Amino acid sequence: MTQDELKALVGQAAIAYVQPGSVVGVGTGSTVNHFIDALAKMPVRVAGAVSSSVQSTERLRKHGIAVLEAGDVTGLGVYVDGADEIDGQGCMIKGGGAALTREKIVADLADRFVCIADESKKVDVLGRFPLPVEVIQMAVPQVMRRFAAMGAQPAVRPGVLTDNGHPIVDVRGLSIADPVALEREINQWPGVVCVGIFARHRADVCLLGTATGVQTLAYDRT
Ligand code: A5P
Repeated sequence: MTQDELKALVGQAAIAYVQPGSVVGVGTGSTVNHFIDALAKMPVRVAGAVSSSVQSTERLRKHGIAVLEAGDVTGLGVYVDGADEIDGQGCMIKGGGAALTREKIVADLADRFVCIADESKKVDVLGRFPLPVEVIQMAVPQVMRRFAAMGAQPAVRPGVLTDNGHPIVDVRGLSIADPVALEREINQWPGVVCVGIFARHRADVCLLGTATGVQTLAYDRT
């Protein structure tokens, strides 16, 4: 199976976690695009979606699925999103598509985070994928110096501004042994809007697309 076929497989499998008639949280990316297409085919559709990006909003609307603002809901049953990496505890690196801040906001509303990913995303230790960090322009040099002092190699993602109008700094050379601590630390640096470590908002379940089918990995969040 191709990587895209594996993404389609898990995008469809995630429908099992969606309550017909509910409002669902929707992430961003090529795997989520398959999930959105599957949402449109549900016999009893969802009442609407809270979306994490302009890209997902456009796709949802094209399928005639109502898009609500995050502020219109007080909670969501489930949030479905992809990942750039996921470790054995359900902690993730996200933000390859530059949507990390809104993804974390929508994930925070949900009782359950269902991660959908092809098997290439599964890692023992986070950090092979460059860590995306959304930063207010004025603070970019300062934040990059902090990463360099940690021995990492930060670089501004060329030609990219997020839906919030900020640049992304991609950080190579980090081996993230303690994702919770590093997320907390980077979040405190002035000018950081959001770091793409999802440890506090880690997955409850990962539907992993493998050559032999969908593998369901459940994590203990306690
Ligand atoms: C978007 O900013 C990201 O967090 C995506 O969820 C992540 O990059 C996974 O993307 P794909 O599903 O396209 O691999």
